[in-house]
Parts: sequence; C-alpha cells; structure tokens
Amino acid sequence: MAGTTANQLIREFQEHFETGIVPAVYRAPGRVNLIGEHTDYNDGLVLPTALEMACYAAVAPAQHGLLRVFAKDLNQSREWPVATLGELRQSHDWSDYIIGVVQQLLIDGYETRSCDLYITSEVPVGSGLSSSAALEVASALAFLDGRPLDRLELARLCQRAEVQFVGMPCGIMDQYTSIFGQQGSAIEIDCRNLQYELVALPQDVRILAVNTMVKHELSSSAYRERVAECGAAVEAIGVVNQSVTSLRDVSPAYFGQIQDSLPVIPRKRARHIVTENERVLDFATAARSGDLAEMGRLFIASHRSLQYDFEVSCEELDFLVDTAIKMDGVYGSRMTGGGFGGCTVNLVAPGAVQTFHDGIVKAYQKRYQIEPVFYECNPSPGAGRL
Ligand code: GLA
Repeated sequence: MAGTTANQLIREFQEHFETGIVPAVYRAPGRVNLIGEHTDYNDGLVLPTALEMACYAAVAPAQHGLLRVFAKDLNQSREWPVATLGELRQSHDWSDYIIGVVQQLLIDGYETRSCDLYITSEVPVGSGLSSSAALEVASALAFLDGRPLDRLELARLCQRAEVQFVGMPCGIMDQYTSIFGQQGSAIEIDCRNLQYELVALPQDVRILAVNTMVKHELSSSAYRERVAECGAAVEAIGVVNQSVTSLRDVSPAYFGQIQDSLPVIPRKRARHIVTENERVLDFATAARSGDLAEMGRLFIASHRSLQYDFEVSCEELDFLVDTAIKMDGVYGSRMTGGGFGGCTVNLVAPGAVQTFHDGIVKAYQKRYQIEPVFYECNPSPGAGRL
C-alpha cells in the first residue's frame, strides 16, 4: 500500500467528524492500461493492471439524517439530506462520482442510510490512471458496507454511474480492473463476455508510468466523438454485412477486404480498434513467453495507431514516447488511458530505471518547462475492505 493505513484513516475520520465510532475502511485501486486502448466500448480486449495507488473511503453510520462527505485531499465537505439523494443533479465536481453511485444503488434497491464518509486518494486526478473509477468503486463499497453485491454487477453499476450521471460514455475497463485486479498479474479482459484471464508479466522488467502533467480541454468531447465514430464505422460495415454489430466482429482479414468501402474517418478509427484487439492477443502471448522485445514492439505499434489512426494522443505524450524509445533499456512506450494528456506507460529494464528517469526529466523539462512525475506500476489486488 502506498503509504495509507487503515489505522491512520480511522484516526483522521474520528478527528474530522468528532466521533469515537470506528469506521469501516474500503480501498479501490487505480489502474494502468498496458495495451488495448479505446477497445472496451467496442466489445474488445484490454490488458490493464490494478495499481498500488488507490482511493480510500472510511464510512460509519450516523443518526443526523444526512449523507456527509469529506474529501481530505481537497479539504472540501458536502452534505445532503438522505431523502433528497435520488433527486440530485450534477454539481460538475468530484461529488458527482459519489452521487452517481448512490443513485445507481437506489435504482437497484439499495437504500442509502445516513452516514459519514471520509475520502482520500493517491491516484493522481487527470492522469489517465482511473482516479474516477477508484472513487466510484470505493464509494460503492462504502455505501454497501457489507451488503452483498456480485463483483461484476458492482463494476457495471459504477460504470453506469459514470455514463448516466457524470455523462461520460466510458467502457467498463476502469471499474472492472479496480474490482478484479490481481496481485502480481495483469488481467486480459474480454469486454464482450466480461471474463478475464491472468497474464503474469516477466520478472525482468519494470512498468513505469510517466505523467505529462497536462490534460487538454478537449479530452471528454473527443472521447464522445470517438465513441460516435466507432458507431458510425459499425453502421457503415453493417450496410454490407448485417452480422457485424460491433467492431469486435471485424477480423483483420475481413477489415482488409472492406476497408476501401468506408469513409476515411470511420476507416481510420476502425483500423485502430481491429489492429489493437490483435495487439492485445499478441501482447499476452509475448508476456507469457517472456518476449520483452515483442512486448515493446507492440507498445510502440499501439501508440502509433492511437496517434495517427485514432488521433487521441497529443504533443506531450508523443514527445515522451519518442524520447523514451531512443533510450537504452527501454523496450517500449505508449500513451495509456483516454489520451489528450495524462500518462505514458513504459517497459524498462530494471538496471535502466535511473537513467530512464533522469533522461526523461531532463528532456521534458527542457522542452516544456514541466517536471514529469513517475509512478512504479506493480500489479496489485482489486478493491476490498481493509
Ligand atoms: C477511459 C475510459 C475507459 C477506456 C479508456 C480508453 O479510461 O474510462 O473506459 O475507454 O479511456 O481505453
């Protein structure tokens, strides 16, 4: 755990809410996606891993009839009468993730009782490491506080909170990974049947995320646009082949046959998704046989596809990738998450970590006058009670 302990949170909770009651503490991790980007909302394949960095929620029942929330990192409080929770509208801030979850729980028949909730998170916001999914899952576990809910249903519920309340038409990768993450392994998720397989990574490599420290304005509008463009590609293919209901149904060979019939934008978007699904399969095979060179090659191919075909990268991400892949001991580098800022993820030989760090800091600072932040990504367990 990256520095946060249950005892510490219990103490902070008691001090903040001026109570002697011992809260239950729940943890939900962020994730780094290794490969399979923007494929989740196309019924495709993704290969992420849960992180040590997590969101923590300490919760205890109360008698005041309110839901009271304190976000420690922002030093902000919110409170609502429990009876009004079902009627609330967006506030366009962090509390939307929490209220979104509450409303989905209500829809599923789980009443929210009056309680105090203390939230803190180590997952950097806007970094592409799923701080929002971590907050959703930690909040959901806190509100359930022991009431049973199937883990897949929990992932779906948190995704619905984001789609329906926050208004972000995301796939299920982030919430799923926060819940099903495994110590020591990445997980290959089939977003069509929602099953996963463990993919152990070779021992002799470090996974490092590097934060550009930028998040461009257009990231959420562009995300919506990509979802729509993928839909347009399915529609265009569906005209000639009705059995295609998502880009998952399109094999690389079939895409080769029909691509010329597609308008240019849907063609480029579809080409990314179709080839990215193949890269996920190839990456899992390479990881299982310890083929770091091939894993690195697939990372770079994924980045180029996101850069040129899917067009969700940005100058800062491209700069970090292009700088990294010229360095000794770096197998591969690519943007991770939705894009338009956030992090790259890098496969680095253990002996090269220091020179990688120093080289990237120097080059990025020289170019952008910004100090990038590094995170070691050790595959960690999914959400649960501490
Ligand atoms: C965001 C979304 C995910 C996924 C990624 C891109 O993180 O929340 O569902 O689509 O972008 O792979």
